[in-house]
Amino acid sequence: MSTVNYSEKIPNNVNLSEDRTLQRALEHWQPGFLNWWQDMGPDGSTAYDVYLRTAVSVDPSGWAQFGYVKMPDYRWGIFLNPADKERKIHFGDHLGEPAWQDVPGEHRANLRRIIVTQGDTEPASVEQQRHLGLTAPSLYDMRNLFQVNVEEGRHLWAMVYLLHRYFGRDGREEAEALLERRSGDANNPRILAAFNEKTPDWLSFFMFTYFTDRDGKFQLCALAESGFDPLARTTKFMLTEEAHHMFVGESGISRIVQRTCEVMNQLKTDDPAKVRAAGAIDLQTIQRYLNFHFSVTIDLFGADQSSNAATFYSSGLKGRFEEGKRTDDHLLKGASYKLLDVSGGALVEKEVPMLNALNEVLRDDYIKDSVAGVQRWNKVIEKAGISFRLKVPHKAFHRQIGTLAGLKVSPEGNVVSEAEWNAHRDEWLPSDEDRAFVASLMGRVIEPGKFAHWIAPPAMGINRQPIDFEYVRFN
Ligand SMILES: [Fe+2]
Ligand SMILES: [Fe+2]
Repeated sequence: MSTVNYSEKIPNNVNLSEDRTLQRALEHWQPGFLNWWQDMGPDGSTAYDVYLRTAVSVDPSGWAQFGYVKMPDYRWGIFLNPADKERKIHFGDHLGEPAWQDVPGEHRANLRRIIVTQGDTEPASVEQQRHLGLTAPSLYDMRNLFQVNVEEGRHLWAMVYLLHRYFGRDGREEAEALLERRSGDANNPRILAAFNEKTPDWLSFFMFTYFTDRDGKFQLCALAESGFDPLARTTKFMLTEEAHHMFVGESGISRIVQRTCEVMNQLKTDDPAKVRAAGAIDLQTIQRYLNFHFSVTIDLFGADQSSNAATFYSSGLKGRFEEGKRTDDHLLKGASYKLLDVSGGALVEKEVPMLNALNEVLRDDYIKDSVAGVQRWNKVIEKAGISFRLKVPHKAFHRQIGTLAGLKVSPEGNVVSEAEWNAHRDEWLPSDEDRAFVASLMGRVIEPGKFAHWIAPPAMGINRQPIDFEYVRFN
């Protein structure tokens, strides 16, 4: 094979063809990426023609193209939002200094760690979701799954670009390691716990894209404030794609809820057993999956008190969500923040220096945002005239990280005994039996315009195509 022309093969707006060293580094990395995609990408899918969008520029009015693509041929590009030459660091100890176009030596290790941790989540989710194409409830849904998967692949490219471009040999080694770790592997797992969980069925997938891709949104928003300008610019563009991932989750759950309500009304029942017998997912099971995914995802924000979080902020590496819109001093030295603690077997509020609580600040912003979509699901239930309501569990429920780790707390926020926890566990979190039931519904539906019984069709198709469009062609 002749040498690949990377300036053509990898769509980019970073003048790749003018940087031979970087081009060579990416030439070495790309075959490894494609091998990883073959091994760990969507199962059995390499010959399918999938109606995908591909990012082709950063122009807000037309950044993507739609068309049939075989996924291994997807043009994983490198796009950074346009540079603002006047941009200043707008928080922390370097406030008011020009944004960095290169990595400052003293922040090199921390920046690398931030980029690697973000980068690791991208291929991890593809690995977690790799079998779902085999049980897609429709061609429309299968296409959305693959769209999310190829874009997570592009997000990996985005982080690998930064590692190769700005971190020399260490960066290249980290880029290799990103292809070597595997979700759920006992010996070489992905970095963060939620990315080592299984995503075995489509209810899990939609919960994951609603809750866990939204964690991605908040992390990317915090990094989009970074004083390291290339990181800020690349994460800003990643957010453009991320919106669709959360849409897939929100609309997916909404359609499941809609189908369940239809079945409940047809049968005039709120008995979960009858709903299940009719082939729909009872609202109680949906609530338990919600409890699981919410609690596992809020752990991703890290310990509630963290000196790393303070360092990342004060050194200008990672801001708060919407840092630029906040009106405080952006230094936070004397500020405090309330978080939860345990005292005498009860949850109490405790005031701590805000700089140390920045993980909690981001977690609380995330919680506010994720509650909004749950209210939209409740509108569907309300419209159907059913009194059940979904809700996010208390922040202290089922936590594994920080002060609240391992504490036994009910979804309502009451500290309970070990015995009470055990007695209620299967009401609060998906049981093996729940998971087996949901698994029993999964089966591939590939006739255009047809949908599995447990999920309603979407309101409209992708890119103004009809719902019965042939979103995936099998070869
Ligand atoms: Fe991503
Ligand atoms: Fe995503």
